[in-house]
Amino acid sequence: MTLTYGNVIPPLDGNYHLKDYLKVREGFSWEQVEKDFSWYESGKVNIVYECVDRHVAEGYGEKLALHYLHGSKEVRCTYQELKDRTDHLATILKKYGVQKGDRVFIFLPKNLDCYISILAAIKIGAIAGPLFEGFMEESVRDRMLDCGAKVLITDPVLGKRITKSDFPDLQTVFVVAEAEDCTEGEVSLYEEYRKTRADQDVIEWVDLEDGFVIHYTSGSTGKPKGVLHRHRAMIHQYITGKWVLDIHEEDIYWCTSHPGWVTGSVYGIFAPLLNRATVVVNGGRFRAEFWYDIIQRAKVTIWYSAPTAFRMLMAEGDEELKSFDLSSVRHVLSVGEPLNPEAIKWGVEKLGVRIHDTWWMTETGAHLIVNLPSQSIKPGSMGRAFPGITVGILDESGREVPVGEIGQLCVKADYPGLMKEIWNNPEKYRSYFPYDGWYVSGDLAYVDEDGYVFFQGRNDDMINSSGERIGPFEVESKLIEHPAVAEAGVIGKPDGLRGEIVKAFIVLRPGYNPTARLLEEIRLFVRSELATHSAPREIEVLELLPKTRISGKIMRRVLKAWELNQDAGDTSQLDGGVCLRVALVD
Ligand code: WT7
Repeated sequence: MTLTYGNVIPPLDGNYHLKDYLKVREGFSWEQVEKDFSWYESGKVNIVYECVDRHVAEGYGEKLALHYLHGSKEVRCTYQELKDRTDHLATILKKYGVQKGDRVFIFLPKNLDCYISILAAIKIGAIAGPLFEGFMEESVRDRMLDCGAKVLITDPVLGKRITKSDFPDLQTVFVVAEAEDCTEGEVSLYEEYRKTRADQDVIEWVDLEDGFVIHYTSGSTGKPKGVLHRHRAMIHQYITGKWVLDIHEEDIYWCTSHPGWVTGSVYGIFAPLLNRATVVVNGGRFRAEFWYDIIQRAKVTIWYSAPTAFRMLMAEGDEELKSFDLSSVRHVLSVGEPLNPEAIKWGVEKLGVRIHDTWWMTETGAHLIVNLPSQSIKPGSMGRAFPGITVGILDESGREVPVGEIGQLCVKADYPGLMKEIWNNPEKYRSYFPYDGWYVSGDLAYVDEDGYVFFQGRNDDMINSSGERIGPFEVESKLIEHPAVAEAGVIGKPDGLRGEIVKAFIVLRPGYNPTARLLEEIRLFVRSELATHSAPREIEVLELLPKTRISGKIMRRVLKAWELNQDAGDTSQLDGGVCLRVALVD
């Protein structure tokens, strides 16, 4: 069929799970969805049972569950093998005293061991804490310390980034390697696999309200906060996997995110396995030719990625794209930052499919606003509320604003995916619910007359670079650890490729000269201690930072306005000093 541009892009023909959005929305109840789970009959709950063991019990043991591809390396793992391997590791974890509710951190590259470790920990009722492989020592330490990690599963390379003596609660470090590649005090998992026979009934039955996975996300102030999700979220993850990802029996599904980010766990592991998909697991870094090669080799049919990735692929050009056969792809989705209409256009013209935007957050546990494959897309909009989800655009006093007006994007807090708590921080948790019954996202948006939601930006200082949320405070704190830096204010600067880049304004300590070399040294310092995406791509030296008069808070809003040559708005709180730019010397 031909596609017309303008306000809407009509759906492509297809046998989609959810066809009539309005009708389904009307008759929707979460209780009805619960009936698809085995625990509805048996009363025995564990998300990993529903993801893995259940499919084996129902005769799908031979079906391919995970397909790992990295360079020329390929490993396949059926549902039966996935059950056996997770049983085996779960038995080992139990043998080492891991109990329900314990925090098991997983610090591994995106590979089968990573997936198996996360699933095995949850199988015995523990809380899995997946860590992004790009994290450096301090990022790992902050998270594991906050959470009182009892066990760490890592490999010989990433394991070198942590110092075991830093963690008072850490009892065991498992390393996916032979004993000779482990250092003292570490346990070789290869050896344990040979020594330990897997138990048969290894599953720990839990309550729907029990936690199963924790994801850390940046806050605008202070250290990253731990968002804990409960087994109940499986209801929401499963049904969005079915209706939004539109997973069918024959689908080969690929989510490009690492399980250390919530997209890589919820939509990289749980939602697709709950729907018994074949899940592609890709190792290695982002490069257009690798990604196209994965699609071609694994015959990916459903592909979930991010605007930044689509923009990079677009920038690679047609040559690259034309040298691969991507005809298996039938459904593409996006998340993490606003999806540019140009990317949707690229998808239609070059891949022959629409790219479906989805909106949610680490805290919300699963999709809230979506574009369904059977529905029209309005480029520039994130889509409409998923059935069972009530979106509200509220003003400062918590009242809903009229259609078309910008306000705070909020959601009724009555759905099963919503976080259970912020680890060790009930006050922070409460701050999400200032108005009765509403979850406040921190995003600004408006809704049109058809219920389509249009994202306007975040109402705090959060930076979103390549789909990753970066809290300015974490970067600023790191910057001022450098001996040359006295003060730092960090903002997101709009960038065509990455959405935003991290830009830092710093004030140097006396005795230091603002040379290009010094600034590069400072940048690399942040990169080696936090993560590549947190390192400022631009650093500018100032004589003073703009701050509030009374509390001395850095006014990032003013820095941003200055950077963008815009009016800074209300500056009545601004301290008297003049923030002169300092020229570089060499
Ligand atoms: C923030 C949440 C869980 C998804 C991955 C990011 C931004 C997310 C969209 C979208 C515009 C989006 C929002 C949100 N965001 N999806 N489709 N369009 N912005 O999870 O790290 O918790 O970040 O990402 O600002 O609040 P996260």
